[in-house]
This record gives sequence, C-alpha cells and structure tokens, in this order.
Amino acid sequence: MVRPTPPAGGRLVNRAQTCGILLAGGLGTRLLPMTAIVGKHLQPIYNKPMIYYPLATLMGAGVRRILLITTARDRPHFEALLGDGRAWGVELSYAVQDVPRGIADALRIGARFIGGDRVMLVLGDNVLHGPLDVLRAAVAARGDGATIFACAVADPSCFGVVEFDADQRPISLEERPARPRSKWAVIGIYLYGPDAPRLAATLEPSARGELEITDLNRLYLEAGRLKVHRLGHDVAWFDTGTPDGLLDAGNFVRACEARRAGLVGSPEEAAWQRGWCTDEGLAAIVDAMPPSAYRSALEARLRDGPRPGERQATSRSV
Ligand code: TTP
Repeated sequence: MVRPTPPAGGRLVNRAQTCGILLAGGLGTRLLPMTAIVGKHLQPIYNKPMIYYPLATLMGAGVRRILLITTARDRPHFEALLGDGRAWGVELSYAVQDVPRGIADALRIGARFIGGDRVMLVLGDNVLHGPLDVLRAAVAARGDGATIFACAVADPSCFGVVEFDADQRPISLEERPARPRSKWAVIGIYLYGPDAPRLAATLEPSARGELEITDLNRLYLEAGRLKVHRLGHDVAWFDTGTPDGLLDAGNFVRACEARRAGLVGSPEEAAWQRGWCTDEGLAAIVDAMPPSAYRSALEARLRDGPRPGERQATSRSV
C-alpha cells in the first residue's frame, strides 16, 4: 500500500507518556494450517489484518509510542504493512521474540523500549469493541501498580481467571484453572507501572515452560498493587486464536460495520478520531489507496463526520 509521507519533523511523542507493546509472536498452532506460512496476526478478521484491531485499541487508549514484538519470519511483513506509523500519528518500532517464551517475555524484550515509562501490553489476537473510556481512564490515572481488565465468560477455563471477595477486591489469579473460581476471564490488555520489566525478570518458567503473565500479575496482587476493571456488556471481547474465535470476530465486525457508519479496528479512523491525523491527512491516506470497501468506508467517515471536536465524545469503538 502506498503511504503518504508525513510532515518532516522530530518525535511525535513525548517521553514519560504511557508506551505500548503489541505482542504478535507465538506459534499459532490452533490455527494451523492457516498459520503454516503466515502468522496468526496477519490473517484477516473480516476485512482487515488481525493486527489492526489491537493496534487501534492501543491508539484508542491514547498510546502513541508502540513496540510490535513478533517472529523473525513475520517481522518484514509487519514492517511492510504498518511502516513506522507516522502517517497515523504513532511511532511504531519492531522487535523479534526468537522463541515463544510466554507473554511476560514481552516485558523483558521491551525493557529498553519501556525505559522507565508505564506500559500497556496488548495481545495481538485480542479484539475489543465498545467504549474505551475505561482504558483511557486507566492510562490517565498514572499509577505505578498494575491494572488488568476482565470479562465475564461462559467457560473461563482456557484463560487467566480472577476471583473477587465480597467487597469486590481481587483475591486470587489462576492461569487456565480446571475448576475456575469465578466467571471473570482476564483479557489480553495489561497496564503496568515502570517496574514491570524488573519484576518480569524475576519470573521462572511455569510447568508448561512459559513466562506466565498471570504470575507477573500475581506479584502485583500479592503486593496489593493490582487493580482489576470488570468490563460490562457494552464491551465485546474476542480471543481470536481459534478458528471459531476468528470467525465469530469476523462476523461481529461485519455486522457492526454494516449497521453503523464507521469501521471497527481501523488505525486510520482511530488516528483521525483522536486528532492525530487531520482531515487533510486522512484524505491523503485515502487518496493513496486503491479502490476497496475499506477505502470507501474511510471516505464516508471523512464526508459524514463527526467533525473535529465531536470526535472524542463519540469515539466509542476500537
Ligand atoms: P497464545 O494464543 O496463547 O499462543 P499462540 O499464539 O502461540 O497460539 P497457539 O496456542 O494456538 O499455538 O498467545 C496469545 C497471544 O500472545 C498471541 O497473540 C500470541 C502472543 N504470544 C507471543 O507473542 N509470544 C509468546 O511467547 C506467547 C506464548 C504468546
């Protein structure tokens, strides 16, 4: 895809803002044979590559300095697809995870990138749709502990599960428990204070040989430094790591986009809504695109608004 050259200049992003890590490595074995040649996060969810969705989530949360961690095989494809992010008002850089050592490994690989900032870690196969206020508020709160997010699901046994006491405080965290203590699954969006890389470095591999993000979160829980936000029914969350999850998410996106003006999981739209990309900037991006339904949807967005100033209030999707 041809991208317009962004205006020349220095850094887009001030240091000391919350940075982001998009984790898009792993093996993707549950999606074989689709992932035999191309990684999971480059596969389509309806009309866009999977990685667009969590990238738009991070952007919607207000995060602009982003490290994408992937495999050596997929890195060149991501670089060709996403570039340096400047056209979308973000700074994208890349790192490789040579072996899938677990989700918490992202904080070790990203330690220098994080460099004393707070970090929002987002799994590359998680699709979230709904009001983003809770993510933005968590980023704006600037605490130095950890904040995680949970959704009520019918079968939490394949996720991290958080249990609450009568006062709604988190009291236990378990990774993929055979007998879950609650219905609250921890979703793949985690916000950490600056000491997360140091704490992640103390973790040992679990019985399944991974550096577990649940073990890191438990360190925060035991220190009384973990907040858990429970997401309500106005938020839809998909883990798209299985063929069913992929199809469900695709059908959901198709239904949403058919019923309202706008796109789900569009970095261009996320940048425009946040004011990181002007009307002229978005028009230049659209002009450089060959005809497609995606281009038409962006054109309609530009034509029909909402206009600048109205965007934050109406920015409900990711
Ligand atoms: P998983 O779905 O747990 O693992 P996977 O992607 O390797 O898939 P499968 O189980 O089918 O083999 O990973 C959740 C997300 O985290 C996914 O987006 C990939 C990413 N991930 C990494 O990037 N590195 C890792 O070491 C692990 C474990 C996951």
